[in-house]
Amino acid sequence: MPNTPPRTADDLRQAFVRFFTGRGHTHVPSASVIPVDRTVLFTVAGMVPFKPYFTGDEVPPFKRAVSVQKCVRAGGKHNDLDDIGRTNRHFSFFEMLGNFSFGDYFKSDAIPWAWEFVTATLGLPAERLWVTVHLDDDEAADLWHERVGVPSDRIQRLDDDNFWKMGDTGPCGPCSEIFWDLGPEHGPDGGPATGHDRYIEIWNLVFMQFDQQADGTRTPLPRPSIDTGAGLERILAVVQGRQSIWEIDVFGPLIAAAEAATGAAIGTTAEIDVSLRIMAEHARTMTFMISDGGGPVERGARLRAPDDHQASGAPCVSARRTRPRDAGARRGDDRRHGGCLPCARGRPRPRGQRRAA
Ligand code: ALA
Repeated sequence: MPNTPPRTADDLRQAFVRFFTGRGHTHVPSASVIPVDRTVLFTVAGMVPFKPYFTGDEVPPFKRAVSVQKCVRAGGKHNDLDDIGRTNRHFSFFEMLGNFSFGDYFKSDAIPWAWEFVTATLGLPAERLWVTVHLDDDEAADLWHERVGVPSDRIQRLDDDNFWKMGDTGPCGPCSEIFWDLGPEHGPDGGPATGHDRYIEIWNLVFMQFDQQADGTRTPLPRPSIDTGAGLERILAVVQGRQSIWEIDVFGPLIAAAEAATGAAIGTTAEIDVSLRIMAEHARTMTFMISDGGGPVERGARLRAPDDHQASGAPCVSARRTRPRDAGARRGDDRRHGGCLPCARGRPRPRGQRRAA
């Protein structure tokens, strides 16, 4: 049978899992978007359910894992809410394809495997790909160039952008990212270091080495480990030849439902496009949150009700942890809007004022 690259969401999930189970990884089903770990508001990445295996708090039942993890980034350190609808790459809910090593393999396997999956399994042309590494990470840069064959002028070194942390505390380490170049019609030359949306990050390989403490110090993990994360929707947009995540088939019916509910049509104005995308996107996120057991108030994180919206009337997933008073919360903190675009975000609602309909 010919080896055709995956083109649908389900094909892509299966191809990823098959690739890594074929390399000794145990397939672990997605955990809930409401995490057991209380240091993060939501499951922000594929590594969250595996945190105790990285830190050494639990003995992993396997040394390698692969997962397709439901993720939500709508509050806390990893919060993409302000960008949703306005960029061609941010969601509050997405699926993360990830392979993990708990003290087993490290960079010299993770890097060539990622390249093989992207170029051979997905069939992406190498000349449209760039990679970044941390400023100090000569080892990763050498592996990309010497083992994998990426030209030196397509390997860029960044500082904070190439150091990934789970949250204010928890596992962290230098990382290396693979980017897709949408093409010269989308922006300037110069690669991902330009920060331009022309270059879309499709996969992040984290070389987990430290456990960040609350006081900012970093203690070494028991063993260097691997945590990778590739956005299913972003890769789908690339393999389906789309310029934006909003054009992938997953969103067509949701945007059509938002159009039907409002009578507004995509393509009328930029602001209407943004609002319709947010309605579609947030409805998807809310569906997964509620089906995973999240509620209007979940451990202090509020899933705001539709009547919290001041402009669009769309359901909103923006979450703000209601901090206990002894953690320094001021009166009124928990009534503040958390950053959803159609809302008057970040503005405290004056006490006693009625919510807008
Ligand atoms: N945990 C890493 C990320 O979320 C892979 O980017």
